[in-house]
Amino acid sequence: MICNDLHSALTPFLTDHQQVCIVRDEGVKELRIEGVKELVLRTSEQTKSIETVQVIWDFLFAQEMTRHGLLIAIGGGVLTDLAGFAASTYKRGIDYINIPTTLLAMVDASSGGKTGVNYHGLKNSIGAFYPPVETLICPTWLKTLPAEQFLSGFAEMLKTGLVKKREGEKEALWEALLGYDLDTLPLDTLTPLIEQCVAVKEEIVAADPKESGLRKVLNFGHTFGHALEEIQMVNGQWSNGKWLHGYAVLYGMIAELYLSVVKLGCPKEPLQQLTQLMLHYYGRPQCNCSDREALISLMQQDKKNERTAEINCTLLQEIGSPRTNQVITTDEANEALEYLFAL
Ligand SMILES: NC(=O)c1ccc[n+]([C@@H]2O[C@H](COP(=O)([O-])OP(=O)(O)OC[C@H]3O[C@@H](n4cnc5c(N)ncnc54)[C@H](O)[C@@H]3O)[C@@H](O)[C@H]2O)c1
Repeated sequence: MICNDLHSALTPFLTDHQQVCIVRDEGVKELRIEGVKELVLRTSEQTKSIETVQVIWDFLFAQEMTRHGLLIAIGGGVLTDLAGFAASTYKRGIDYINIPTTLLAMVDASSGGKTGVNYHGLKNSIGAFYPPVETLICPTWLKTLPAEQFLSGFAEMLKTGLVKKREGEKEALWEALLGYDLDTLPLDTLTPLIEQCVAVKEEIVAADPKESGLRKVLNFGHTFGHALEEIQMVNGQWSNGKWLHGYAVLYGMIAELYLSVVKLGCPKEPLQQLTQLMLHYYGRPQCNCSDREALISLMQQDKKNERTAEINCTLLQEIGSPRTNQVITTDEANEALEYLFAL
């Protein structure tokens, strides 16, 4: 839920639990709660690992946290995924609360119950579905967020606007997002947009908590996006990364919108609108044609593709009408990448 006063929002949870601990991302300011011990972690995709989960387990053991304790996770998506996974496994599962501090974590990572770590060079390949007891979204954290991180989160909001039209809203989410002022990033007009994106995600997750069907609509842009992210790895290690997650998803959405137009007759307008946003704010993907083969091979191994050697995407018939399990041939994937890299 959106919340402007974290201390008041936390009070009932503090009284309901025997013990409370905090795990906080080093990049965000402290939230002081009397008598509550905190562990501060430096986060990155490299340290989104089982070793860091062990550090959290050790911290909880050192505090003699029982099964009836509460862990509060404060940070971006790396921190909330790590803390959520540690909470899911510590003494077979303890309660945890997410306090997301990046835009991406607010609209995506902190709700929906997916937790996990990177393993064997594959993103989020070890994890659990284990929802927090509450997610407290306080947009004022965003005041210190670097613009690039903001844009990364905004890309996931754009994805939400493309896959779902909400009934009863005055303006369609996609149009409202296109109207948001990305030059000055005002928080007052952003807050209702965050609320809508979270509501869409929660609605979809409630209907399909373990991603057996409907939830795959949220993977729009992610088949190409994950491959674009994973190609940044050097010798199986996470490099500093040319692009943040949301940037890779934005490029992925352009490739998948291109395929939506070609294969499903989706109108060209959203592709053109997203391309404009990319050129104006995100910049072109710095890849070259020789990367295409490697990207296609990564897409064939994408863990979200149940069958191997087949590329499987969510495409759009039109805004708000996603089609999951669309099989893409190697030639079509090549064509979409060629289109993306020629922009
Ligand atoms: N669980 C899910 O459903 C889900 C969904 C989407 C993404 N994710 C995961 O989320 C991760 C990406 O999350 P992210 O984009 O939040 O990145 P992140 O957690 O790496 O945070 C980005 C950077 O911003 C810093 N930071 C955090 N809050 C800040 C603030 N308020 N001010 C200044 N700096 C701040 C962090 O220290 C970090 O350096 C990926 O690992 C991805 O797999 C999970």
